[in-house]
Amino acid sequence: MPHAPLPLAVLVSGTGSNLQALIDCPSDDFSICVVISDRPDAAALARARGAGIPTHVVDWSTCTLRHEFTSAVCDAAEGFGAQGLILAGFMRILAPGAMERFPDAIINVHPALLPSFPGGHAVEHALAHGVTFTGVTVHFVDEQVDHGPIISQRPVPVYDGDDAFSLHERIQSVEHQLLPEVVAAFGRGDLSVEGRHVRWNSTVNAGGSR
Ligand code: GRF
Repeated sequence: MPHAPLPLAVLVSGTGSNLQALIDCPSDDFSICVVISDRPDAAALARARGAGIPTHVVDWSTCTLRHEFTSAVCDAAEGFGAQGLILAGFMRILAPGAMERFPDAIINVHPALLPSFPGGHAVEHALAHGVTFTGVTVHFVDEQVDHGPIISQRPVPVYDGDDAFSLHERIQSVEHQLLPEVVAAFGRGDLSVEGRHVRWNSTVNAGGSR
């Protein structure tokens, strides 16, 4: 049955290569109604403008309270009609108010196989631990950092001689495939959360590639 694309806000802080992957993957399942940045100088904003997508800045440096910052982000997203938030390289932690306003509708991409290496230096930590595989996790966001129900994961090998740059580059090429796939599934209503488990409702992904 045809359905309207689900309008989503994409939250960014930096380069925006994951935003670009979402832009470059036109889908009947989701649309990007606004790109919201916590930094006015984020390069991701130019990518959004280049694609004709509205942008909005909630400047973290002028916010003193996390819950006020979170409210401003959610207000902006709702003002543009968003029915979910995609954290694509968004480097701020949202207060629990965001999960109340967008229940089971906030998705984050993380450059490691959670629950290993949560936090802001996941690639460096994976290298320091000498793992032979790390990867990408796309998960729903809950009140704890890099912790919510896992939607999908893909492994990425670590090679001898890798540094943080080369490994992150390999991880990002996987992120750029996986995030649009998951966001499209979310837009289709294919994902349902049962405790810490996410069920893919369609047979396309059932038991297979998630
Ligand atoms: C990505 O590797 C993402 O996993 C992490 O921050 C990076 C953002 O990259 N949270 P970009 O801004 O999408 O290029």
